[in-house]
Amino acid sequence: DKNVATLVERSLVLVKPDGVKRALTGAIIDRIERKGMRVIAMDLRSLPRELVEEHYAEHQGKPFFEPLVSFMLSGPVVAMVIEGHRCIEAFRTLSGATDPVKAAPGTIRGDLATDVGTTVVQNLVHGSDSPASAEREIKLFFPDLA
Ligand code: PPS
Repeated sequence: DKNVATLVERSLVLVKPDGVKRALTGAIIDRIERKGMRVIAMDLRSLPRELVEEHYAEHQGKPFFEPLVSFMLSGPVVAMVIEGHRCIEAFRTLSGATDPVKAAPGTIRGDLATDVGTTVVQNLVHGSDSPASAEREIKLFFPDLA
């Protein structure tokens, strides 16, 4: 089927500092793999502020921008590139809604996160939201990836 290859996508996934601190990285990778997506690059790293600000550049000026940046600097993250047919949308569906209280049971956020009483939303994971974002974010986090 000549259309199949064109559906293979890559997405940037981050296990945010709350996920690393709570030792949920393995559980999150397990869900990605059981869903049928592959991890093709991954590491644990502390992010420089400039990288976080660049990553979230579209949210600059929003009230949650500074708290979000500080949160992402509060500990190491696990950065990965995942691959699969329509994996950008598939991972967003698997993640659930931004607000972990609203995220459906069965999703990563719905099952594993909740409101912890901070102004910052601690929602465990980030996933690229479109093919254009995925390309930009993968270049930012994994510039050497072929
Ligand atoms: S928007 O304005 O509709 O684009 O916002 P949204 O897509 O819901 O969220 C954009 C990213 O900001 C994060 N976010 C927050 N983080 C911490 N605290 C608060 N209050 C907050 N509100 C939004 C949200 O998780 C998205 O980040 P990623 O990394 O993509 O999940």
